[in-house]
Amino acid sequence: MKIDILTLFPDMFEGVFGSSILKKAQDKDAVNIHVHNFREFADNKHQTVDDYPYGGGAGMVLKPQPLFDAVKGIEAEGTRVILMCPQGERYTQAKAESFAKEKHLVFLCGHYEGYDERIREHLVTDEISIGDYVLTGGELAAMVVVDSVVRLLPDVLGNEDSHMKDSYSTGLLEHPHYTRPADFRGLKVPDVLLSGDHKKIEEWRQKESLRRTWLRRPDLLDVIELNDQQKKWLLEFKNQS
Ligand code: ADE
Repeated sequence: MKIDILTLFPDMFEGVFGSSILKKAQDKDAVNIHVHNFREFADNKHQTVDDYPYGGGAGMVLKPQPLFDAVKGIEAEGTRVILMCPQGERYTQAKAESFAKEKHLVFLCGHYEGYDERIREHLVTDEISIGDYVLTGGELAAMVVVDSVVRLLPDVLGNEDSHMKDSYSTGLLEHPHYTRPADFRGLKVPDVLLSGDHKKIEEWRQKESLRRTWLRRPDLLDVIELNDQQKKWLLEFKNQS
């Protein structure tokens, strides 16, 4: 996969893209990430990228020219061009999975009051928000999206299926995890996990995954089809509470 990021603050990406799994993924050529300062594409003497809004009002608006020419310059016409903004579609794991199937992604990150509407209408294919809050710019949001997409690419996570059981991939939150010691200052690991009985352990995990989802994110249960066993467990949780 190839990823291009268009931003006015390329330095912001260095630590995140230069560390841990995102770095390893690039070292292995699972992904090639390029961060561009789109100011370099401004065609005016002072490399201005924003201007006052027509009709007046506070704040500046990003001009169309630098972004249109940047997308052309990186030969990204016809690819998915993703605008990070709080008005976008709310980002989900399903969207991450859809982005992970693409060969090339382009992210536009702004730091200003707004984008000229022609950018939205004629350059961008997706508008994405990472949540119902406003950041100072799209850069942090683009890092979140890139991280969640790159970890889904083949050969990026050590264990091939380690993302298959992720919270949200299954529609449920993940079950609790424990490691040694079995008794930490009197706090015990559930007996079933020490039993060596793999069938029972798997059943416990499925049940606790359902319990956690029911307690923390009951809205997720409205959109998945529960099997008979899960329906029984759900009744049991409700009767217990
Ligand atoms: N830019 C500012 N706030 C944002 C958000 N919540 N998601 C994506 N981009 C943003």
